[in-house]
Amino acid sequence: MSVSVLVGSQWGDEGKGKIVDILGERFDIVARYQGGANAGHTIVIEDQQFILHLIPSGILRDGIKCVIGNGVVIDPQALLDEIDFLQKHGFNFNDRLFISHNAHIIMPYHKVIDSINESGDNKVGSTGRGIGPCYIDKFDRKGIRVVDLLDKVELERKIRRNVAEKNEILKKIYNKEELDVEVILKDYLAFGNLIAQYITDVPTFLNNAINDGKSILMEGAQGALLDIDHGTYPFVTSSSPTSGGACSGVGVPPTKISSVFGIVKSYTTRVGLGPFPTELLGEEGDELRKWGAEFGATTGRPRRCGWYDAFLLKYSRMINGIERVAITKLDVLSNLDEIKVCIAYELDGKTLEAFPTTVNQLERIKPIYKILPGWKTDISHIRKYEDLPIETKNYLSFISEHSGFEISIISVGPKRSQTIEL
Ligand code: IMP
Repeated sequence: MSVSVLVGSQWGDEGKGKIVDILGERFDIVARYQGGANAGHTIVIEDQQFILHLIPSGILRDGIKCVIGNGVVIDPQALLDEIDFLQKHGFNFNDRLFISHNAHIIMPYHKVIDSINESGDNKVGSTGRGIGPCYIDKFDRKGIRVVDLLDKVELERKIRRNVAEKNEILKKIYNKEELDVEVILKDYLAFGNLIAQYITDVPTFLNNAINDGKSILMEGAQGALLDIDHGTYPFVTSSSPTSGGACSGVGVPPTKISSVFGIVKSYTTRVGLGPFPTELLGEEGDELRKWGAEFGATTGRPRRCGWYDAFLLKYSRMINGIERVAITKLDVLSNLDEIKVCIAYELDGKTLEAFPTTVNQLERIKPIYKILPGWKTDISHIRKYEDLPIETKNYLSFISEHSGFEISIISVGPKRSQTIEL
C-alpha cells in the first residue's frame, strides 16, 4: 500500500505536471486535493505540450484513474473544455475521471468579484479565476457544490439566492452591472447534465482502493509558500497546498499517508505580488526568465525569478514533512558563471533561526548567500547522475544538504526523457 503526497515546495510553478506524469506511472490513482483552474501543469509528450488546469496529470498515462477531490474548486466550463481538448487528443475518459460530490463550483460572480478585488487596495496578483471568492462562499456555507448539479430544484434555488445577494453587492457597493440569473441558470443546469457521469463519493472510492492495495498519488497545486495558513499571507492562494491539505482535500486519513514528495525548482520563481527575498531584478532576472521560459501557464504573466533559497526550503520541508524531492529545470542554470544559494536570513543584524512569521519581516530580511561555480555546459542530454559535471553534482549536494532533503529525481528539460533518477 502506498499513498504519497506530492507538493510544490516553493511558490508554485516548480514543474509538478512533468513529475506527476513520471511518478504517476507507478500509481493506480492520482488525486488532486486543492486549488482550481488557477493552476497550470505543463507536460510535454513527444514535442506536444499539454497544459492541465483541473484534471490530474495522470490522465495522460493509460490505465491511471484520476480524482478531483472535495478540496478543489471547479469551474465547470474550464473542466469541460479540458475534457474536450484531451479527448480530441485521443485520451480516454472511460471509468477514469472521478469528481467529488463535495467539491465546490466556481460561479460567474466569483470571477467578477475576483477582478473587483484585484482592482482595489487588496490586490494580491490573483489569476482572476474566481478561486478566493469561491472558497469564501464555501467557508460561509453558501457555496454551490458538485452534488447540487444533480438536483435541479435545489440548484435553481441556490443559484437564485446567491445571484440575488451578489447582485446587491455588485450594484450597491461596487456600482457594477448586475448578472443575468436566467443565463447562469441555463448554463449551470446544462453543466450538470455533462458532469453527472463523473460524480463520485470520493472518500469511499479512495479508501476502498487503499483497502484493496491500490496506490495513490495525491497531487497538490500551487506551492507551500502560497498556502493560506503557512504561506506569505496575504499574498497567497485561498487553499492549503501543503501536505496537510491532502487528507482533508480528498477524504483520506493521515494514518494512510506513507510519504511526502516535494517538487523543487533549482532556482526560485513567484507570480503575483508579495515578498521574494532572493529575487533578481533587472537583467539577471530577465535572463533567468528567458532561459527558463518563466511565463505563467495559466495567465501568461512573466514570473519573477531569483536564486535558490535553501532557508525557505528548510521551512517548506518542515511544514510539509518532505523527505525526498525532484529537482526541476536544472538545465536552465547552465549558462551561469556562478550560482548563488541563499543559506540564511539576517534581520536587523541578527541571523534568523526560523522562517519569518510576518510578511513585513520577510520584506526586510537580508539574504546571506554562498556562491558556487557554474558548470557552463549543456546538461539537457544527460540521463545518468554519474555523467553530470562535477560542479552540477556539487550544486545538488549543496542545496540538498542545506535544505535537508534527499534528491531522487533530477529534471534537465521539459520532456519525459529528460529525467535522471537516482
Ligand atoms: P489566486 O489563487 O488566483 O487567487 O491567486 C493568488 C496568488 O497565488 C497570486 O499571487 C497568484 O499568482 C498565485 N497563484 C495561484 N495559482 C498559482 C499557480 O498555479 N502557480 C503559481 N502561482 C499561483
